[in-house]
Amino acid sequence: MESERALSMASMLLLLSCLCAAVVGFPFRTPPDLDVTPRVTVLSSGLRRCKRFQSSAVNYSTLLLEADSERLYVGARGAVFALSASDISASSALTIEWEASIEQKRECKVKGKDDKTECFNHIRLLQRFNSSHLYMCGTHAFTPLCAYIDEKKFVMSSQPEEGKDRCPYRSTTGYTALIIDQQLYTASQYEFWNFPDIRRNSPAPTLKTEDAPTRWLNEADFVGSALVREGLGSSAGNDDTIYFFFTEKSQEQSTTYSHSRVARVARVCKGDRGGHLTLQKRWTSFLKSRLTCSLPEYDFHFNMLRSVFVMPGLTPRDTLFYGIFGLEWKNVKASAVCRFSLPEVQEAFQGPYMESQDSDWREYVGKIPNPRPGTCITDALRAKGINISTSLPDDVLDFVRRHPLMSKQVQPVDRRPLLFKRTTNYTHMAVNTVQGLDEQMYHVLYMGTDEGWLHKAVDIKGQLHIIEEIQLFKEPQPVNNLLLSTKQMSLYASSPSGVVQLPLSNCPRYTSCYDCIFARDPNCAWDGAECVDVMTEANRSTLIQDIQYGRMGCEKTQYNAVHRSRSVRVGDDILLQCELSSNLATPLWTLNGTEVQGYDLNSGFRIGTDGLLIIEAQQDQSGLYTCHAVENNIKVAVVTYNVTISIDLPPPPPVETTHSILTMLPAPTEGPSSENSSSEGPQPPLLLLSPRNMEAIYLSLITVLGTLCVVLAVVLVYVGFCLRVGRRGKYSLRAAAAVHPSSKRSRKQHRNSAHMEVKTISSHCNGFCNGVSKRQNASIQDEGFLHIVPGEGHASPNKDALPPAPPLPPALHFSSPECDFPNGLSATLPSVLRRMNGNSYVLLRQSDSENTSPLCYPFAEELNKILEKRKHTLLLPRPDESSV
Ligand SMILES: *[C@@H]1O[C@H](CO)[C@@H](O)[C@H](O)[C@H]1NC(C)=O
Ligand SMILES: *[C@@H]1O[C@H](CO)[C@@H](O)[C@H](O)[C@H]1NC(C)=O
Ligand SMILES: *[C@@H]1O[C@H](CO)[C@@H](O)[C@H](O)[C@H]1NC(C)=O
Ligand SMILES: *[C@@H]1O[C@H](CO)[C@@H](O)[C@H](O)[C@H]1NC(C)=O
Repeated sequence: MESERALSMASMLLLLSCLCAAVVGFPFRTPPDLDVTPRVTVLSSGLRRCKRFQSSAVNYSTLLLEADSERLYVGARGAVFALSASDISASSALTIEWEASIEQKRECKVKGKDDKTECFNHIRLLQRFNSSHLYMCGTHAFTPLCAYIDEKKFVMSSQPEEGKDRCPYRSTTGYTALIIDQQLYTASQYEFWNFPDIRRNSPAPTLKTEDAPTRWLNEADFVGSALVREGLGSSAGNDDTIYFFFTEKSQEQSTTYSHSRVARVARVCKGDRGGHLTLQKRWTSFLKSRLTCSLPEYDFHFNMLRSVFVMPGLTPRDTLFYGIFGLEWKNVKASAVCRFSLPEVQEAFQGPYMESQDSDWREYVGKIPNPRPGTCITDALRAKGINISTSLPDDVLDFVRRHPLMSKQVQPVDRRPLLFKRTTNYTHMAVNTVQGLDEQMYHVLYMGTDEGWLHKAVDIKGQLHIIEEIQLFKEPQPVNNLLLSTKQMSLYASSPSGVVQLPLSNCPRYTSCYDCIFARDPNCAWDGAECVDVMTEANRSTLIQDIQYGRMGCEKTQYNAVHRSRSVRVGDDILLQCELSSNLATPLWTLNGTEVQGYDLNSGFRIGTDGLLIIEAQQDQSGLYTCHAVENNIKVAVVTYNVTISIDLPPPPPVETTHSILTMLPAPTEGPSSENSSSEGPQPPLLLLSPRNMEAIYLSLITVLGTLCVVLAVVLVYVGFCLRVGRRGKYSLRAAAAVHPSSKRSRKQHRNSAHMEVKTISSHCNGFCNGVSKRQNASIQDEGFLHIVPGEGHASPNKDALPPAPPLPPALHFSSPECDFPNGLSATLPSVLRRMNGNSYVLLRQSDSENTSPLCYPFAEELNKILEKRKHTLLLPRPDESSV
């Protein structure tokens, strides 16, 4: 039968999506406890108290703000701006226009460079030089230049100078620079024929890294650098040191891992003056070590260092280095956050060296010359008459030259990543310390993504809790830079399109005591009436906060749930809406005080994330329904509905079309779904129909089934398409219209249903195979899955008022190749339908049977269900039209 074919097609299709998820998906399992779901999702449309700066310039990258300055300096493409730090949107912005001339751009193009991206002046360096001047460097259409800025007048104070040896040629080349005591330290691969290089450009002699006989850096990609004033308060008369962070080609081969690239930390001493004969104009203090950030038990090695944030401590020894790491596979989105302590980095530099023998690196076990190679000049050395690096003995320098790599790897403080996030690429981070009401210091992490989102997280005993995810920019674009100011209590983020300033916390967002407590934001506390910023409160003794557990303190507060009433007819589908603001909450429904079992099809109830669906309502289902949000094992009532279901309710006013569409007929016995579906749901009352009506209904039923079959065929073709070309939903609709072979009349009649199904399925396809941007996926979700079923004719008169679906994590689809998940928690499902966090997942899992994966089977079930619905709903509204 046609219907059987349709079903087998549907299952084939789902099998296909499974297969493709397995092929494209992540090749291994992932530890769930480190992949934290952000508690609250804030879309850019819902962002409050945020300020923006935009101009005709693009590619905002460098940010500079100093403690006592009221200005935020921003480097972009062809311009530098001085903005008011307290309000970057204020009209007082000053600008220095600095773009390459037309002639220079033409030359750049002649050199074969991309005149859409590279033949511009991208500002790569913008830092304070001295008390009156700033210093900046730009790529200047592939001929880098640098210039001083008179800070007061905000003008270029002199003609630009040569920048080839201190600024990369491209906007995308890894680069880091520091100006310390008017000395410029830079690290980059300046142009592709150069070897990457860490250098001090002034004062003379210029120092560099060595290339022969041992190359100190191998295709290094620099992400950050930091000065640590180790000399400060040090009894040993230590020198200050400068740390550089990068990813490079791995030299050492190991039996336990085989990776082509590794993350590194290198350091040089600030007082280094190079060697006398050996290592002349080279660092005598260069040492490097590997930074590890991995989950060995899952064979995850995060080797790509993307960004570093240096967290100063009370003393230099307390310095922490926070790093964002990625996996080596470029097409796999994933991020890990690891932090390292300065003493452990120093320990690695004090440990054994590596040595190269026949291009094989192993630990050096021979004699080490004295003084220890690679150390800074200390009082101990000065006592020996070595007060400058040029006086170091030749054997020491020769040893340094050949042994730049340390054997010991630097392990993260926590011995594992703080966070491991699938489907997200973090680009930059900033960390702040906030004292909680419990007197503890908490680290609050702000992490920008490659799609323009910001994740705010708090470190609670080595475990991150993501307080919120905020959409900074409507259009997906990478966060180029993040800068945090405790003085302004602001976070600044730059991106290709602009700069945004937002407050470090937004406590009023939490409207109830529990909401405020569950957030676990160290900046926020409940004062009895509202969620307030702890910093602004004089009297902290009455404030309630529970960062450690996110549970305690609200027991005595009164919270009134919203109350509503609904009256419907028997046989209607009713959606009782209940949107939970927290992604970590699960809904729990009670009817007259007893829990509603919504996971079982036979119960007639279905619990989704946006509400409770009563399918074909019966009179005995009347009563008081309460929706609770369960979070951290605490049940909070959100909304109550007094639902009256009666047979003789007056017909609904004609405006409420949604209602009539959702009125259903009894399922015909030979329908495809009744054979197949395990559901024996409550029998709907038989409606009285004349034989003519029945005939019309059966005729139209056949038409509809035929159409559905065609639609499924089209969908199958589309899936083929989407596997091959990776196109999106829109495409499928066009395809549907084009391939549809049936008569024009029936096509017109059934276009609506066709759209629905195609979209529903295409959302799987996109979600699993291609990866859709957050926005697209969200809209598909809106139109497809979640809103087909609901019958909310009365419930929500204003459909537009529905809050937008939260973003889905971007494109990656993790799944194990077998399409099955031992703990029943599909890694794929949440990434596609994240809003269906937990609870809906259970809903979809309703008909668990062995050998069917939660990924494949429930969707088939869901699809059947929807197809069946369509069939019914098409019948009733216009029975005459659909008869042929
Ligand atoms: C610069 O901005 C443009 C437009 O916003 C973007 O397409 C391009 O990728 C950006 N380039 C870099 C290097 O960020
Ligand atoms: C800062 O440096 C600039 C550029 O070298 C120089 O012109 C200026 O006099 C310096 N300012 C101070 C206060 O030293
Ligand atoms: C280093 O010490 C020698 C003698 O002990 C002295 O003559 C020289 O000036 C010192 N150099 C520096 C840079 O302090
Ligand atoms: C719930 O309580 C109401 C009022 O007491 C009653 O009419 C209704 O039948 C009850 N519903 C159920 C399912 O017990």
